Amino acid sequence: MEPIAPILELKGLSKAFGGLKVTDDVSFKVMPREISVVIGPNGAGKTTLFNQITGHLRPDSGRILFKGQDLVGRTTQQIVALGVGRAFQVASLFLGETVLDNIRVACLSKLDQTRKPLRPVSDFKRATKRAMEILDSLGLARYAARQAHELAHGDQKLLDIGIALALEPVLLLLDEPTSGMSPEERHLTRELVRKLWKDFNLTLIFIEHDMDTVFGLAQSVRVLQSGRLLAEGPPEEIRKNQDVITAYLGEEVA
Ligand SMILES: Nc1ncnc2c1ncn2[C@@H]1O[C@H](COP(=O)(O)OP(=O)(O)OP(=O)(O)O)[C@@H](O)[C@H]1O
Ligand SMILES: [Mg+2]
Repeated sequence: MEPIAPILELKGLSKAFGGLKVTDDVSFKVMPREISVVIGPNGAGKTTLFNQITGHLRPDSGRILFKGQDLVGRTTQQIVALGVGRAFQVASLFLGETVLDNIRVACLSKLDQTRKPLRPVSDFKRATKRAMEILDSLGLARYAARQAHELAHGDQKLLDIGIALALEPVLLLLDEPTSGMSPEERHLTRELVRKLWKDFNLTLIFIEHDMDTVFGLAQSVRVLQSGRLLAEGPPEEIRKNQDVITAYLGEEVA
């Protein structure tokens, strides 16, 4: 049997802003269907790492292999089309449009990538059906006709995940999915993310500060500090890692 290949492989990824190394020679591999978390202090370079994977920022050096193809130099649109989705630390929504339209636009763009000026009505109907299915899986179907700005903060974060799902990712990156939520909302979101991972057959990488979510959801943990990969491993090892406790976990868990 062929050994299973990683779905994502970062090799010596580096990026500096001026003299500040925000990603410093970072290498790791993520296997298909893994649920992986990236943790680390504020400013450690977590979001910047995501920005490079999704083509929002170009690394200075290193490679980003997704299913064996190098993503470096590709546009965000090309990377999305290859199957890498992303939800943002601050939800990226059309606030003045309806909840349904926020998802439907993404579904439509997935259906017709030729961008013809005239689309068949059947496309619109299919996109509407798909968008409602996604809203349903997020528990947001009852808000379909509301404008996105009317949603509570937590629901806006879920809607942003929905937009990413509409583009049918294989690998989904979530930047702090539970930030700004109450403990109760965090718990619900954690269970929802696990359900989405299963139902949509995803490989997940998320960034998170909430330790209940980190240790309740992740199968593997990567720790960034000042742009460097300080440690990686299963949650139970990372929890006991003295370097990680000193650099980060001490203050979070205390
Ligand atoms: N476009 C930019 N230009 C200059 N510096 C930047 C830019 N984007 C990020 N940085 C800097 O890079 C470092 C890493 O930022 P990043 O947003 O990746 O941190 P983070 O780990 O996601 O932090 P947080 O947990 O607070 O979200 C910070 O020092 C930040 O100020
Ligand atoms: Mg960040």
